[in-house]
Amino acid sequence: MSQSALRRLPAWQALQQHAAVLGDKHLRQLFADDPRRGETFSVEDVGLYLDYSKQRIDADTLRLLRELATACELPQRTEAMFRGKRINRTEDRAVLHVALRAPRGEQILLDRHDVVAEVHEVLDRMAAFADRVRSGSWLGHTGKRIRSVISIGIGGSDLGPVMAYEALRDYSARDLTFRFVSNVDGTDLLEATHDLDAAETLFIVCSKTFTTLETLTNAHAARDWCVQALGDEKAVAKHFVAVSTNAVEVKKFGIDTAHMFGFWDWVGGRYSMDSAIGLSTMLAIGPEHFREMLAGFHAMDEHFRHTPYERNLPVLMGLLAIWNNNFLDAATVAVLPYEQYLKRFPAYLQQLTMESNGKHVTLEGTTVDYATGPIFWGEPGTNGQHSFYQLIHQGTRIVPCDFIGFAQSLNPLGQQHDLLIANLIAQGEALAFGKSADEVRAEGTPEALVPHRSFAGNRPSNTILAQKLTPHALGTLVALYEHSVFVQGVIWGIDSFDQWGVELGKQLAKTTIAELTAKDEPKLAHDSSTNTLIRRYRQWR
Ligand code: F6P
Repeated sequence: MSQSALRRLPAWQALQQHAAVLGDKHLRQLFADDPRRGETFSVEDVGLYLDYSKQRIDADTLRLLRELATACELPQRTEAMFRGKRINRTEDRAVLHVALRAPRGEQILLDRHDVVAEVHEVLDRMAAFADRVRSGSWLGHTGKRIRSVISIGIGGSDLGPVMAYEALRDYSARDLTFRFVSNVDGTDLLEATHDLDAAETLFIVCSKTFTTLETLTNAHAARDWCVQALGDEKAVAKHFVAVSTNAVEVKKFGIDTAHMFGFWDWVGGRYSMDSAIGLSTMLAIGPEHFREMLAGFHAMDEHFRHTPYERNLPVLMGLLAIWNNNFLDAATVAVLPYEQYLKRFPAYLQQLTMESNGKHVTLEGTTVDYATGPIFWGEPGTNGQHSFYQLIHQGTRIVPCDFIGFAQSLNPLGQQHDLLIANLIAQGEALAFGKSADEVRAEGTPEALVPHRSFAGNRPSNTILAQKLTPHALGTLVALYEHSVFVQGVIWGIDSFDQWGVELGKQLAKTTIAELTAKDEPKLAHDSSTNTLIRRYRQWR
């Protein structure tokens, strides 16, 4: 088979040769060669400081990666996205999440229609609604004020809202309880509602399509719970609102479209937390803080669009990811926020990165002959240090890490924040430099234990620091990853904005549900494993 166009590019081939040479150089050596390396390979803008000096790179690596970006037409593709071209080719859609945070008055035309004005119309409606709920003037069916908000959604209609709520909890209205229900496992909904008073509970049903099995099933069950508790079908009007692009289905469900907050097909589910899908976020932190978050997103959008690649945060992050993935054969990325409020950030990034770049064909439909999206995973520090870091330090695989931290704590408690950040910094140092056998010996370690207690080091990481976790900082951080994902997708020549891979399982489940629940023993025509599992479930259910 002939090589793909990407692998035939001079920049790609030069990077391959370069990796073979640089591969032998230890980070210890690279730091010794340039005493100012920490400053050379770091950049600060829009409130974020990125230190990428602990990546296994030198100036040539970066130059070649930038050449690769140019050869893959990253500048043109970026402009195409910002200008509303239909870059999501398999769905024939524009990709305009950047319009969701464009300031009022700015214009982005899609089919000669200004989408920014529409965005602000919805934001204003959301703000008016949020103010009513937060102030207590939106009353439930029996006249009680709303005390609990349950957001029902899944995937992009859940992970963004739940991540943002947790991240910005410190800014949230503490007299309101927020819960998030996503799983079709009834436990999720039952645990979320069991201690709540339906008369004080508001459900936000979030679904771009309003046809997603899990969300619709949960929404129907929630409606039953509400109607049963309040004894009146009419209660739905005061206790259910919807966020969707599908007014017809929202109406069918029984929610008045006056209580629907819309968005558009040019917002991908995993890029929608700053659209009306973020209604729960706005209810929690208030419209002003929500707008601050949008300003953070926008600041990163502008930075990405206009900053030279040498200092462009998402471009650097994206290109370094390409380097680790395609030239150093790292199959995963660990994202490690040293910030308890970011505990759901790794889960959020899993969908953003893996649903976007988990693709095996190019935009033209040709099978790729290079690795695409890496596996994302992670946990907040310091917890991970006491579970999986062992493998990152001494295992046989390279796991590039993104360490994320904030200089100021939102909850200062004695020396705890300094301890937290000391750990973040120490982990990056330990991974990069390790501990040689001689150093271990010099500590008086018995010879038999020396191999066990030595650390090879040379393990790459990024460190991202910001001053404080604010709504603005969260916006910049999320947009940083969004655009980094885009950069990688452009290099790989794939469609980062579709998700056909989730369809097969959904289709098969429709047949399976009928077989699991059929009254009479169904005739099964699957493979022997699937047939046996269905029979066993039927016996045991
Ligand atoms: O099945 C995957 C997916 O389509 C995601 O891309 C999306 O975020 C999620 O389901 C939820 O979809 P919806 O918002 O339409 O309910």
